[in-house]
Amino acid sequence: MVLLQKELNVEPMGMSDLFEVVAIERQSYHKPWSFFLFLNELKDNEYADYLVLKNENTVIGYGGMWNFYQYSHITNLAVGPNFRQKGYGTMILKALLKKAEDKGVIRVTLEVRGTNDIALKMYGKLGFESVGIKKNYYGNEDAVLMSLNSLKDFH
Ligand SMILES: CC(C)(COP(=O)(O)OP(=O)(O)OC[C@H]1O[C@@H](n2cnc3c(N)ncnc32)[C@H](O)[C@@H]1OP(=O)(O)O)[C@@H](O)C(=O)NCCC(=O)NCCS
Repeated sequence: MVLLQKELNVEPMGMSDLFEVVAIERQSYHKPWSFFLFLNELKDNEYADYLVLKNENTVIGYGGMWNFYQYSHITNLAVGPNFRQKGYGTMILKALLKKAEDKGVIRVTLEVRGTNDIALKMYGKLGFESVGIKKNYYGNEDAVLMSLNSLKDFH
């Protein structure tokens, strides 16, 4: 299902979004974050920003990041399986980057599995570059460390 732009809204993640967020998280990651981990992030992490993309009251996808002074690190980004390949992941990523830009951030980093070609492509399209490998970061799989060094270019 393709949703029209005007039907969609990116907004801060709230407690009431968490059941849907965790359901998408479980369908998206090998080692999904738990409900309580997300809850802690929303309640207790003053350095975190989490956004949801919604169609009326349905969560289509979400993403989050930690902000430390002029640096942000994307923690997770996922789109519900039924809504993938329609530009929504890019929409959430751009909303996170806009938020980072508004905070005066100069560099955004993230880790992604070396085998996750889809995510590597998505991040690459918005200007992220591979800058290193974290050996066995995901148990027996390496992570690619990606960095966006100019927030001028993602718009
Ligand atoms: C990665 C993810 C968020 C992408 O969301 P999405 O809404 O499908 O992405 P988009 O539609 O915005 O696509 C962005 C780009 O990614 C690439 N891409 C997306 N789906 C793809 C697919 N099935 N095959 C190849 N490339 C693909 C394309 O380059 C695409 O750009 P294009 O459509 O202009 O060619 C989604 O696949 C997902 O939730 N995956 C599981 C969780 C995950 O891996 N998160 C990222 C790691 S942190």
